[in-house]
Amino acid sequence: MKRILFAVLALGLTLTAQAKDIFVNTPKTTLMLTANDGQTPRIHYYGSRITPAQGHEIIDAMSLNYDAYPAFGRESYDETALSVTHADGNMTTELAITGTRTEGDLTIISMKDKKYDFYVDLYYRANDKSDVIETWTVLRNGEKKAVRLEQYASGVMTFRQEGAWLTHFHGTWAAEGQMTEEPLTQGLKTIVSHDGVRAGMNDRAEVMISLDGKPQENSGRVVGAALCWTGNYKLRLETRGKYRHTLVAGIDDLHTTYTLKPGESFQTPELAMTYSTEGKGGVSRAFHRWGREGKLHNGKGLREILLNSWEGVYMNVNQEVCEQMMDGIRELGGELFVVDDGWFGRKYRRTNDSQGLGDWQTDLEKLPGGVPALLKAAEDRGLKFGIWIEPEMTNSKSELYEKHPDWVVAHPTRELAKGRGGTQLVLDMSNPKVQDFVVGIVDDLVKENPHLHYIKWDCNMSMNNFGSSYLSGDRQSHLIVDFHRGLRSALERIRKAHPDLVIQLCASGGGRVNWGFMPYFDEFWCSDNTDAQQRLFIQWGTSHFFPTMAMAQHVSASPNHQTGRVIPLKFRFDVAMTGRLGMEMKPSDLNDRECEYAKKAVAFYKEIRPIVQLGDQYRLLSPYEGNGFCSEMFVSEDKSEAVFFCYKFENYADLHTPRWHMAGLDPDATYRLTEFEPSERARYFDGKTFSGRFLMETGLDAYLSRQFSSRVIRLKRE
Ligand code: GLA
Repeated sequence: MKRILFAVLALGLTLTAQAKDIFVNTPKTTLMLTANDGQTPRIHYYGSRITPAQGHEIIDAMSLNYDAYPAFGRESYDETALSVTHADGNMTTELAITGTRTEGDLTIISMKDKKYDFYVDLYYRANDKSDVIETWTVLRNGEKKAVRLEQYASGVMTFRQEGAWLTHFHGTWAAEGQMTEEPLTQGLKTIVSHDGVRAGMNDRAEVMISLDGKPQENSGRVVGAALCWTGNYKLRLETRGKYRHTLVAGIDDLHTTYTLKPGESFQTPELAMTYSTEGKGGVSRAFHRWGREGKLHNGKGLREILLNSWEGVYMNVNQEVCEQMMDGIRELGGELFVVDDGWFGRKYRRTNDSQGLGDWQTDLEKLPGGVPALLKAAEDRGLKFGIWIEPEMTNSKSELYEKHPDWVVAHPTRELAKGRGGTQLVLDMSNPKVQDFVVGIVDDLVKENPHLHYIKWDCNMSMNNFGSSYLSGDRQSHLIVDFHRGLRSALERIRKAHPDLVIQLCASGGGRVNWGFMPYFDEFWCSDNTDAQQRLFIQWGTSHFFPTMAMAQHVSASPNHQTGRVIPLKFRFDVAMTGRLGMEMKPSDLNDRECEYAKKAVAFYKEIRPIVQLGDQYRLLSPYEGNGFCSEMFVSEDKSEAVFFCYKFENYADLHTPRWHMAGLDPDATYRLTEFEPSERARYFDGKTFSGRFLMETGLDAYLSRQFSSRVIRLKRE
């Protein structure tokens, strides 16, 4: 049969032939589908990049292929992506392709129900700068009356492989991003968020599927998938027999039935995917690159070293104490001071967490000169200035709530379930007036403080209540989705007006870590847990999908406020330096020796910052392997520079330091090593040279003696 080949990178091609092979190509990968008119789109292959000729091999060799967007209605014994109740009550949908087209980097497969005027466009975007593809759908009601979307996933991917493993991430407050790896066995594995507000608080919407058995960091075939959605989601992984695994990912289908009026359409969020033959690390590096190449706000800019006031003084902020902290961070070489919670509220002063949210006027008892005086104090010291807000929230003890009780998420017939401080409530972001209010908070702050550099955008509550005074009775099931559409639209307005503002995403720590947020945010707070030992696990898990330039990692006091653990300053810095370094303590609590050390560490970080923030990350020895050691490294894009970190965070009896095998270097290059402030033994490797091949194949015996020993070694190509 004559096949017409469809390369997505070929611009502007429009074809309507009988048998079409579609190749969604990135530099190193290909997703191959067929899209024949009158049929459903079929997935044939997702793997290393192939030529069209190899595409024929795939068609000839593989008799099985899978529906790329299965709808409920006929032979629906497997998981479906779409379920619609049509205007006449018919719950079945049968889609058939009506045409395919490309627009720039997009391939669009258009489908229509065989009997109803219901339309689905299935999109694939091929990125030519990273190996990530994105897929989503646009669903359109052309019927005469309203239809109900019951299930509306973003995309589907399917694999045939015995012995595949799943890597996923979960957690809770102060323990975010915990990694679990398990074989995929028969049945349905579901990963969901029902939080309503903070999509990444518990399970995370990113998974890796390793096709060569137990996942390895730097070898083996691995597929990575991330649903880019700020609200409730569901990832379904169905395993049939031993071989067949299907991933269906999208907005959660519980309590989210969405009505489309005639002529209305609905765009589902993107499902981003990549394929690598270089293990989980290859998947991570592809996602990191995708972030740097545009998905993350300001993905190419270096992040500043900051001091955040939270663990230093909690809500006891005032002009004097902030100035002391500014002096401290300036002396250490920092670049930015951020005042956290506690600076606002007049009638209900924010002296504790039970009041004031929503009343974004400065508490003049604490800060008589308002925010402008704080900002000036920072600028006088050569520092930039940032401020904390929690825009989507209020307390029942606030002027905002007194004025607008109908602005909170709740049903008016029900008693309110309150959150943090016994009074916290969530504002109804589906309401355009609330969206205007939220946008206004940022606009007003910038208007009053044109030099405001940074905002920490927090969010500390789940949707504990359900119901909207804004949405009509027959639209209540839109709330969970429209909250996030409203939030997204507010964020879009804010970004349009303030593209250069640095905005940190925070939600009780890392509760909102999801790619759906990243186009609006420069970075995120990984966790309220700043214990360096536990951060190794949190950061390790989080880095699987998110670039370290966006991961805010702060050195805090010892004993640690969350765990009570005492950890030397060097170890705390060495752990925080693998992301966006910051501090979260009173610098005046450091003794003279520590202060000198901190200065050197900050200066050193400035030197390695471009490698850590913009280079490629190679995770080496996992803390989850349970032997008390851990290591990772960063390599500049041209492989001329690298920085290697290794840690000993537990002291098990009779366990020798492993030999450290590096990765990502040029095997044929010679690298000169220098060590940053070794905590033990002489600068043994300082000045020595090794080939990249030796460092990767044979490795270094960099000894770590005691618990909380760590080493940081810099490599420069000769
Ligand atoms: C959350 C954040 C913290 C801090 C507090 C302030 O817990 O994660 O970093 O900002 O709120 O109340």
